Amino acid sequence: MFDKSSFEEMKKEIESLLEDRKDKFESICRYLYDHVPYYNWVGFYLVDGSKKLKLGPYVGEPTVHTTISFGQGICGQAAQTKHNFVIQDVSKETNYLSCSPDVKSEIVIPMMKNGKVIGELDIDSHYLSPFDEKDEAFLEWICKMVTGNA
Ligand code: SME
Repeated sequence: MFDKSSFEEMKKEIESLLEDRKDKFESICRYLYDHVPYYNWVGFYLVDGSKKLKLGPYVGEPTVHTTISFGQGICGQAAQTKHNFVIQDVSKETNYLSCSPDVKSEIVIPMMKNGKVIGELDIDSHYLSPFDEKDEAFLEWICKMVTGNA
């Protein structure tokens, strides 16, 4: 059973992981995927100039959703509204883009710079209702670290 109090210890490791790294996004994906058993797909989408999200570095099964328009799916809604989306049961969603039938839940945290969404961290889980405010706070902290706002 994963103990979410480990998030605090993990933050220290992530800080040193990010020092002098050019491949920040890749290393975060790998770290989260390897350390949190219910993070079963971890990836970044990055905003291009035309209100579209482009798939960036990720760890997990390949996805067909490599370009997502703002407003489309959970990722597109998070980008459009600038809000976190915490979906404990994706089967209840009407505006959802499925990557794999194994995925039961999803959390999306927008990454902000100067009030604009520049990308987002997207995590899929094979478990129902695995996310709580501890995950949200931890992942928000990571997004701030990688965008240099921490
Ligand atoms: N499920 C997402 C699409 C991206 S995949 O999870 C990798 C969505 O509904 O936007």
